[in-house]
Order: sequence, then C-alpha cells, then structure tokens
Amino acid sequence: MRPYGRAMTDTTLTPSACTTTTASPPVRLWSRAFAVIYDPSLWIGEVAGMRRRRRELLATATGRTLEIGGGTGLNLAHYPSSLPELIVAEPEATMRRRLVKRAARAGRRVRVVDAPAERLPFEDASIDTVVSTLVLCTVDDPAQALREIARVLRPGGRLLFIEHVRSDSRALAWLQDRLAAPWKRFAEGCRCNRPTATLMAATGLAVDAGEARWSAMPPIVRPLITGCATPAEHGAHP
Ligand SMILES: C[S@@+](CC[C@H](N)C(=O)[O-])C[C@H]1O[C@@H](n2cnc3c(N)ncnc32)[C@H](O)[C@@H]1O
Repeated sequence: MRPYGRAMTDTTLTPSACTTTTASPPVRLWSRAFAVIYDPSLWIGEVAGMRRRRRELLATATGRTLEIGGGTGLNLAHYPSSLPELIVAEPEATMRRRLVKRAARAGRRVRVVDAPAERLPFEDASIDTVVSTLVLCTVDDPAQALREIARVLRPGGRLLFIEHVRSDSRALAWLQDRLAAPWKRFAEGCRCNRPTATLMAATGLAVDAGEARWSAMPPIVRPLITGCATPAEHGAHP
C-alpha cells in the first residue's frame, strides 16, 4: 500500500457535477485489476449476507459521517438519506474512480476524498460517525488509523464497523498465519490474521462487537466482528 504522506484529492460530487482538484499518481497493474475484480469477487458474499449486514449497520449512521477506505462504494446504497453530510475517503486511485462513478449513479451528494485512514484531513471532534467495513485489515498502520478515528470523532460519536479478523479457532488462526503473506499480495495489502478487536481496545476504544461469519467467502477471511466502538474518553455509546 502506498505511503500516507501523499497529496490528497478532494472530489465533491453532486448528482450533476464532479470536480477533481489534483491529479492521481500512476497505479500498478495489479491495483487496477484488483479494482476490476473486487465487486465480482465479493458478489456471492454480498448475496449470502454481507449486503444485509452493511444495510443493518449503516442504517444506524447519524450526523456528519465519514467512511474510510470506501473502495468501490458498496456501502453507498445503505446510508440513510437524512445524513447531513457523507464523506468517503479512499486512498487508491483505481478504487476511487469506481467509487465516484457509483456515487454519481446513486445520485446523492457525496464528498469523495483521497486520504488514508492514518492521516484524516479533518478537524478534531468534527465527525459524528466513522464507518469502516473490511478496511482495518488493510491499512498499513491500524493503531495510527484508530487514533485518527478517535481524534476526529465528536464526543458521543461512534465508529461503526464490519471487519474480518484473526480466528478464535487455533486451527483456523494457524491457517491464516500460513496464508497471510500470499493473501496479502493477492488482496492488495489485506492481513487475514489481524486481531482488530484487540487493536481497537489497545487504542482506548470501548468496543461493542458481535461475532459473525462472512458466508461464502474463503475460510481465512470468514471470521467477522461487527458493531460499534467509542473513544473511551467519550464515554460508552448509548
Ligand atoms: C477490502 S477493501 C474494502 C472496501 C469497502 N470498504 C468495502 O466494504 O467493500 C479495502 C479498502 O481499503 C483501502 N485502503 C487501503 N489502504 C488504506 C489506508 N491506509 N487507509 C484507508 N483505506 C485504505 C483500499 O484501497 C480498499 O479500497
């Protein structure tokens, strides 16, 4: 994954207009291919339950909402239309292009930002809801990303997440460890054995998560956690 010191592109998208303010850097061939195969690869998992999970989680988003690592925009259809502002950050140019197209097709106002989760271009305590689905497995520095999320959340704000994680089963965790390196190369930086709930707690987030399965997907990415997390100093979520 690219270093997170690069210039950020901010694309504001309305049903009729889309303006990109900086040029994107050149992208690698596999990054392009990955963006092309991303939706078809996930399709069966979406149909088998992930789409429902997204819908149920995102129905609870409130206020100024920031999604990190928005990818091709699979979450866009599930946000309440009543949100006052929806911002989607995505650092990979190939993914972002698809995200911008999907947002335009959805015909709703979305601000698309070129930014990594480790360096969010937002003021402290300026966001009500942060959303992360299948992203904290991929960021290079999850502890820094979680600190950034805690920084930008307003008091009482929440991180809503669906993440695939390291298995509690010793046998599956062993398999995840064995396959971590080739999977990371295939899946553009995804760490299939990352203990994300533990990292959240270590960052001082109060985590309220349930366990689930990403049905119809490879076993090494099936264990899911889904729920919400609140910066500890903000107090427990309602
Ligand atoms: C597995 S995809 C998930 C996409 C989308 N959230 C979804 O639910 O389908 C992981 C996404 O994280 C993005 N990503 C990679 N590194 C990142 C970083 N440091 N900060 C934020 N997003 C990142 C990737 O470009 C990719 O779009």
